Amino acid sequence: MTSLQVAARFDPVGFSEIVKIRNKIMALQQAGVKVLPFHGGEPFMETPQPIKDACLKALAENKTRYAPSSGIPELVELIIEKVRTKNCIPAEPGHAIVVSGGLHGLFGAFLSAVNPGDEVLVFSPYWTPIKDLIALTGGQRVLVNSFQARGDVLRPMLEQHLTERTRVIYFNSPTNPTGQVYTRSEVEVIADFARAHDLVVIADEAYEDIIFEAEHISIASLPGMLERTLTVYTLSKSYAMTGWRIGYVIATEPLMTGLRKITLNSINGVNTPTQWAAVAALRLGTDYFEAIRQGYRQRRDLLVAGFRSAGFACEIPAGTFYAFPRVSTLLGEDSWEASNRMLENARVSTVPGVVFGPDGEGHLRFSFSTSIETIEAAVEQLQRVRG
Ligand SMILES: Cc1ncc(COP(=O)(O)O)c(C=O)c1O
Repeated sequence: MTSLQVAARFDPVGFSEIVKIRNKIMALQQAGVKVLPFHGGEPFMETPQPIKDACLKALAENKTRYAPSSGIPELVELIIEKVRTKNCIPAEPGHAIVVSGGLHGLFGAFLSAVNPGDEVLVFSPYWTPIKDLIALTGGQRVLVNSFQARGDVLRPMLEQHLTERTRVIYFNSPTNPTGQVYTRSEVEVIADFARAHDLVVIADEAYEDIIFEAEHISIASLPGMLERTLTVYTLSKSYAMTGWRIGYVIATEPLMTGLRKITLNSINGVNTPTQWAAVAALRLGTDYFEAIRQGYRQRRDLLVAGFRSAGFACEIPAGTFYAFPRVSTLLGEDSWEASNRMLENARVSTVPGVVFGPDGEGHLRFSFSTSIETIEAAVEQLQRVRG
């Protein structure tokens, strides 16, 4: 037994399998093959200019020193105002912390709420890193199939998965990878269930602004929920800021202390110029969101129509920039194989549904956050995929 090994806490923690897909696509591209990319998770537009300008201004004004580790006061104040007005969360000063993107916020939230041995209810299919975050805490993931657990059966299904050890629910709406958006009455059911069984909710609202024929409901806005919810937001998707690494979490004590300790002892605060850029982002008007939604809706409709004419069953995603068609009837149940066939026969890159947990098997995830021309080309190729 040597001490030259990584600490045992990492034994159950994996790396995202999406990396395998990226490597395969890169190898094809290096061999000169043109691939139509649908596997990513990036907004199609660029970071808006006022955000970039605010960062440059902060640099010119030498706003480059240590900031309070929980965030600069100007940004924290705007966050509180935003969640109070837009999300209807009754947050007070002290209930917001700036973090280095959504994943960092989730890392802090899971570490703050989950003890080793605790069970975490996860609607499934789910965003892949959630499995590894739970593993890092020593908690156990308990999957609730989100294709089934909707409407009237939502409460009985949640009750069915409850044990003495259940402590947390991870709730992501709009949902990556399915594009599902939970209705107000469904969110109320989840809130009731959490209150009845004294559970903490980790609400992941990364896609709150990418929503079409639905209404985004923040679970922390419901009565008695702010104090039992850690709501994680990111600027990545709403403002095309994936590489800036900034987000925020809304929580109350005692859970907020966990987040503050993790943030202080890991990054000691997000870099100061990026926080000034975030101030400019939160000041952008509602016209901005209307324009991006229209752009995404046009892409979604084009792709979903293409699926249907090629014979793939696909629910229309009510939010996010992902579509999650069932491909098993045409390409078989094994989604890795289906994804490989899609790449080899149609030159379209996708993510196998099983990467998002066993309930995703038989599906492929397509990101429609790409150019209209790319979607049109893919729609044409889809006809060939059976070959
Ligand atoms: C569901 C979900 N939550 C959180 C995030 C985190 O985003 P980021 O770390 O880029 O802010 C993502 C990114 O893809 C996501 O899909």
